[in-house]
Amino acid sequence: MVLLELKEVTKKYPVRLKKGRKSVIAVNQVNLTLCEAESLALVGESGSGKSTIAKLIMNIEPVTSGQILLDDKSIHRKELKYLQLYKNIQLVLQDSATSLHPKMTVQEILTEPIRNFFPKEKNTNDKCFKLLDLVGLDDTFLTRYAHQLSGGQKQRVCIAKALAVQPKIIIFDESIASLDSPSQVAIIEMLKEIQNKEQIAYLFITHDLQSAKHLCNRVAVMQEGTIVEIFSDWHEENLKHPYTKQLFRYSQE
Ligand SMILES: Nc1ncnc2c1ncn2[C@@H]1O[C@H](COP(=O)(O)OP(=O)(O)OP(=O)(O)O)[C@@H](O)[C@H]1O
Ligand SMILES: [Mg+2]
Repeated sequence: MVLLELKEVTKKYPVRLKKGRKSVIAVNQVNLTLCEAESLALVGESGSGKSTIAKLIMNIEPVTSGQILLDDKSIHRKELKYLQLYKNIQLVLQDSATSLHPKMTVQEILTEPIRNFFPKEKNTNDKCFKLLDLVGLDDTFLTRYAHQLSGGQKQRVCIAKALAVQPKIIIFDESIASLDSPSQVAIIEMLKEIQNKEQIAYLFITHDLQSAKHLCNRVAVMQEGTIVEIFSDWHEENLKHPYTKQLFRYSQE
């Protein structure tokens, strides 16, 4: 079943020039669907509009035209509160350091979303414990601060924080790009396991086609604001767009 749908979504950013203004088309007429418990990769060169798509889905930025539907309803409708949107969709960014408050312990970081989204939950300690376990960290991490964690551990805490909300969708924007390859592989394996248990849909934004291949069934390829190809068959001879073929070849090297 389709969870999220982008229909003809366009985003233009105004830019000031010395004389007058012009606009940059960051996202151009994009159509995309994400199904329940699916892993969809969004790949493409720098500046192609991937993060802009994440911001539009999270309603951090308004669309210029087009529609974004969550469960068949527009995310732009007035009665939809931010909290309701974030209950359904969580975003995990690349720079985990800035997503984690430096003066909060891991326990406090995980307790915050539980309090916000499940105010009736009494046993928050137990919940923090389970969340850490899901992301492969033990309870000794509960009392640590962000600066006492490695990059991979910070990313795991950010993922636990997103999971605390029990969302239907998690968007990962280059979330593991800064980690070394073994840590990336470990986190991808972990994400697969979590998906099997929790049936969450992933939109996985990445430069790296190999990590997309490990995690995702479908790949949407972006170039200059448009989606040039969506594929699920990893045989080069079945790829259509020259840019996808080029990406594919680079990833084999
Ligand atoms: N607030 C903004 N104002 C003006 N232009 C912007 C703004 N945000 C993004 N852009 C432009 O929109 C285009 C798409 O940017 P976006 O961040 O979505 O790319 P990306 O695919 O995520 O790139 P990367 O892989 O480097 O993260 C770029 O040309 C960028 O300069
Ligand atoms: Mg980006």
